Amino acid sequence: MTTESTRQGDVANRALAPDGVQRIEWAAREMPVINLIRERFRKERPLAGLRMAACLHVTAETANLMLALRDGGADVVLCASNPLSTQDDVAAALEATYGITTFAIKGENNETYYRHIHTALDHAPHMTMDDGADLVATIHKERRDLLATIVGGTEETTTGVIRLRSMAADGALNYPIIAVNEADTKHLFDNRYGTGQSTLDGITRATNVLWAGKNVVVAGYGWCGRGVASRARGMGAQVIVTEVQPIPALEAVMEGFRVMPMLEAAKIADIVITLTGDINVVDRHHLEVMKDGAIVANSGHFNDEINIPALASMAEGTRPARPFVEEYLLGDGRKLFLLGEGRLINLAAAEGHPPSVMDMSFANQAMAAEYLASNAGRLAAGVHTIPRDLDEEVARIKLHSMGIAIDMLTEEQKKYLSSWESGT
Ligand code: ADE
Repeated sequence: MTTESTRQGDVANRALAPDGVQRIEWAAREMPVINLIRERFRKERPLAGLRMAACLHVTAETANLMLALRDGGADVVLCASNPLSTQDDVAAALEATYGITTFAIKGENNETYYRHIHTALDHAPHMTMDDGADLVATIHKERRDLLATIVGGTEETTTGVIRLRSMAADGALNYPIIAVNEADTKHLFDNRYGTGQSTLDGITRATNVLWAGKNVVVAGYGWCGRGVASRARGMGAQVIVTEVQPIPALEAVMEGFRVMPMLEAAKIADIVITLTGDINVVDRHHLEVMKDGAIVANSGHFNDEINIPALASMAEGTRPARPFVEEYLLGDGRKLFLLGEGRLINLAAAEGHPPSVMDMSFANQAMAAEYLASNAGRLAAGVHTIPRDLDEEVARIKLHSMGIAIDMLTEEQKKYLSSWESGT
């Protein structure tokens, strides 16, 4: 186990810290809920004495969460949850200015990525905080000695929750995890409006493409897909949705999108964006029929939604066309452009979701950590949802911070809603 005074993180360049501080402070202006929680945590210290390991995208928004956890009394270390999502200036500020040990370098290879995860786990955490379940998976596969002292964990994202549920179904999950993603104030906003905006932002920054008039194929019509489809339509694109499940497919149709199999969509796509959480959604046979110049990007958690090995094997050569844009020259003369190595393009080529939406996601994270701390030993191993009152509290504070008031039920209305006797 490491102690605060002996710990040293691993960041790209500590000299970037002043830029990181600026960016973290700028984000804080749009994070009223986490700021309020931070203030309360400073007084109440609900996480005092707890060692935490967090594996999250190392961004300005995450930094504000880390500061809230630290002020709540946690001894927290942070590592990246994706090799390409780290903001190096923020990592430097956390490490050099705020004293939060951070292991994260933008562009790190897989070996460094996992070394960072293991080093964070050397902290012997009582609590884990994941975005994609890599800490939990590593602990259960390789660091089982740590299980004895862990009281619980939290999980940020859909893909991580799916992974954890399959662990739980196999009887392989040994501690309680709060699925933060399941909170309404998380997925209805972060996944939809956050992913919607930041995905278009990432693709725009990488390519400078004009969306108006483009055929944009959105693979997956979950909350993230919905956000991207709606924002792409708002920019004037012709949006096509692909799905494997009939109900979301039907919703997409009735929302006014064209729906068709990927093999058809791939032939007419100018831009394909995957957000499914599954592998090879854009596979070799889809790549084979794409138009010259088509752009392929992923905004799902892992980089396996596009069959990149197949694309590489089809190519006679590759070269960087711009930062985060790789050109693949195929044998038949077509060029396809892969963005951000197939990693989540919103974090690879842009700054991820804006702080205003991460405010709610991370308020849920902070409250989930507090809930786990106050229920230590009382929750069964498995996947838990955040209590509804905490979820609603996040929405209430957010509305208040936006200066928006809502009505309250009258006594008469409460009585009406709880009775079954009155009808027509
Ligand atoms: N996931 C998506 N956007 C993010 C951000 N800005 N910070 C942390 N995690 C994110």
